[in-house]
Amino acid sequence: SARPDLLVVGAGFFGLTVAERCATELGLRVVVIDRRSHLGGNAYSEVDPETGVEVHKYGAHLFHTSNEKVWEYVNRFTAFTDYKHRVFGKYQGQVYSLPMNLGLINQFFGKSHTPQEARELIAGQASEIATEDATNLEEKAVSLIGRPLYEAFIKGYTAKQWQTDPTELSADIITRLPVRYTFENRWFSDTHEGLPVDGYTAWLTRMAEHPNIEVRLETDFFAPGHDYSAETVKGTLPIVYTGPVDEYFDHREGRLSWRTVDLEESVEDVDDFQGTGVVNYNDQEVPFTRIIEFKHFHPERVKTHLPGKTVIVHEYSRFAEEGDEPYYPINTAEDRATLLRYRELAQAEPMVLFGGRLGTYQYLDMHMAIGSALSMFENRLRPHFGEGAPLT
Ligand code: FDA
Repeated sequence: SARPDLLVVGAGFFGLTVAERCATELGLRVVVIDRRSHLGGNAYSEVDPETGVEVHKYGAHLFHTSNEKVWEYVNRFTAFTDYKHRVFGKYQGQVYSLPMNLGLINQFFGKSHTPQEARELIAGQASEIATEDATNLEEKAVSLIGRPLYEAFIKGYTAKQWQTDPTELSADIITRLPVRYTFENRWFSDTHEGLPVDGYTAWLTRMAEHPNIEVRLETDFFAPGHDYSAETVKGTLPIVYTGPVDEYFDHREGRLSWRTVDLEESVEDVDDFQGTGVVNYNDQEVPFTRIIEFKHFHPERVKTHLPGKTVIVHEYSRFAEEGDEPYYPINTAEDRATLLRYRELAQAEPMVLFGGRLGTYQYLDMHMAIGSALSMFENRLRPHFGEGAPLT
């Protein structure tokens, strides 16, 4: 086959957006490689054959955006349902509606408050510590929302997420802890929200359908002996790389640290396990952080779901070791210093652009990954391929 104009490493939202734009707008021939056996990156999902329920294989993915350009772009590939995300949290035998809001405050303190009364109550409880005096995450949280709400809704959950006592965690992990003094319990406040009508994989597959795009799966950039291995193509072909930036440079500046999540999937013999998509478990003694029940993301598909069964996932959070899926950047001061050194190396790397959540060591929501890929296309790739501007 003819040599492509561009190699994209990683078939997630970032890589596929870049590939689609370059093929459609510039007529380039693009090869996209991914080491996994499927495209879509972490947004990949599949329908469980037994129950007919769409399962998000790398954790629950809810699409939302206030970026009009991104919204217009994604609607070229899929329609969206009108799903609006809500999250509930269990604590000491009660279920509360999150995020922290007037309903939760009333239920937790066992009494009704006007918005003004609730504000005064929380401000009084938060006055125990001044925010600027906080020396760790616990003190910071108490200074923002007071000790009672902190102990119920932040302490146990955070300890499980980080496997570390919040008094041992840095205060700058949290900047704010929003409390809503209304009954509003929608999780996201973006202009647009919904789930892809026929699923994430159909959406992602359509992005790669252009005849100029070739997707090669089970192809690791760093594995030797194939057409697009790093050793063969580095410096000979423009590359957009969306894998881990430290791996690209063989970890020569050290390893960036990540949290991972173990996802334990099971089919339960009940029609409805928990009555909603996501329930957080705030008690520290419960080992998992959340349970996801996927059928609730698509109530409109009720007729295609097998009655009497449901698919759930228990989530357990921990530090990522070598070989684990990197999910959330830990971003310690040491990580930030390491990242700066990798950024310099990345900028100096000829003919390679680094993008996406792994390539920039950043947590990106889907709409952010897509938006950032659209910017890379407009600001870097179009000028390079259109006007011959240098790539790095
Ligand atoms: P992504 O990780 O998707 O793709 C990178 C691809 O590169 C992978 O397929 C990988 O296999 C491939 N790759 C890496 N190294 C390679 C190599 N050497 N050779 C070949 N291929 C290689 N967002 C949101 O908007 N709403 C949500 O609800 C959620 N929920 C959520 C839950 C969890 C648990 C996580 C971890 C993340 C989310 N997200 C999310 C974020 C979402 O997953 C994220 O925005 C996208 O995955 C970003 O797409 P990228 O293409 O940047 O990376």
